[in-house]
Amino acid sequence: MAPSAIEIAHLAPPKVIGPATKAATRPANPLPQWLIDGAKIEHREPFDPKKHLDFVPPNKIYTMKEIGLEGHGISPNAVSEPFPLFTEEAVKQMRAEIFSDDVLQNCQYASTFNKNMVRGMGPARAPFTYDAWNSPEVLAKISEVAGVDLVPALDFDIANINISVGNGSVDLSTRSGEAPEQEVSSVAWHYDSFPFVCVTMISNCEGMIGGETALRTATGDIMKVRGPAMGTAVVMQGRYIEHQALKALGGRERISMVTSFRPKSPFLKDESILTGVRGISILPDLYHQYTQYRLEILEERIRARLKHEQRRESAKRPFNTPDARKWLIEQRGFIDAMLEELWE
Ligand SMILES: [Fe+2]
Repeated sequence: MAPSAIEIAHLAPPKVIGPATKAATRPANPLPQWLIDGAKIEHREPFDPKKHLDFVPPNKIYTMKEIGLEGHGISPNAVSEPFPLFTEEAVKQMRAEIFSDDVLQNCQYASTFNKNMVRGMGPARAPFTYDAWNSPEVLAKISEVAGVDLVPALDFDIANINISVGNGSVDLSTRSGEAPEQEVSSVAWHYDSFPFVCVTMISNCEGMIGGETALRTATGDIMKVRGPAMGTAVVMQGRYIEHQALKALGGRERISMVTSFRPKSPFLKDESILTGVRGISILPDLYHQYTQYRLEILEERIRARLKHEQRRESAKRPFNTPDARKWLIEQRGFIDAMLEELWE
C-alpha cells in the first residue's frame, strides 16, 4: 500500500549536491601512456556470462534497519560486503574498451570532484561493458544482492569509471558528481543521484591501502567497505545512504567502475535525479535517456490504471474518487520531479 502524504514528506529523499562543473569538461591532464598501453589486448570478445561472470554471494548484506534507515529507499538492503562478480578476463576486456582510442577521444570527463573519468561509452564503443551490465545474468545477481529487481539507470552511466593515478600515493576520487568539494583530492560525504550503485574494482589491488567506501549510519557510526581484488564489487543503496570514498595509498592506479541502477518495476518509486551527472554528460543525450525511461514508466502506470478502471466498471463497483485522486497526485508528483530535472 502506498504511504500517506505525511509519510511521503517524512521520508523525502536526501538532497543531492552536485559538482560545480556546469558543462561537460575534458580532463586537463592526459592519462599516462603506460596505463593506455597496459590495457591493450590481443582479442576482443563478446560478453559471455558463462565465461565472464564469477559471482559468489556476499558474506553479509547489511540492511537499512541495521544502519538505522528502515523504511527509506526502495529495498530493505543497504550495502553488501564485497563479493566476486567478474573474472579477470572480463575486467581485461572492459579495460581494453575504456582505454581504447575512440573512448579516450570521446568519453573522458573531469569535474570538481573527479579529475579523470570515462563515462557514456555506449554500446558501439564498449559493447562488452554495455552487454555485461545489461545481461540478464548480471542483473539477476545485482538484484539478488540489492534485494529488489534493478536495471541500469541510464545508458550514460554504463558505466562511470573513476581513474586515479599516482606514484604510490593515489587519491581515491569520489563517485561522479556528488561531493561538494573544492579540491579534487578531498572527499566529502554525499548521496548518489540514483537509487542503487554497483562499484566494481577493476584495478589490481596489490599494495593498495585504504580506498574504501565509508558509510554513515543513522547513529553516526562509520562503516567501511571495499572490493579487495580485481573483479570484486560492492552494491549499495547510495541514493539513501550518506557515504564517501576514502583515499587510497599504494599502487600505481585505482580504477573503479561505477554503474548506477533504478528499480525495474514501473510501480516502485523512482527518485533518480540528474544533479550529480548533469555537468559530466552530453546534456541532450542525458535528457533523452532520462525522458525516455521516465515516460515509459508513466506509460506502464497509465496502462495499468486504465485496466484497473475498466475492470472496475465491468464489475460495477462504485467509482472510488479518493483513490483516483491519490493516483493522479502521485503521477503529478512524478511529472513535477521531471520538471525539476529538465532545464537549460
Ligand atoms: Fe557515491
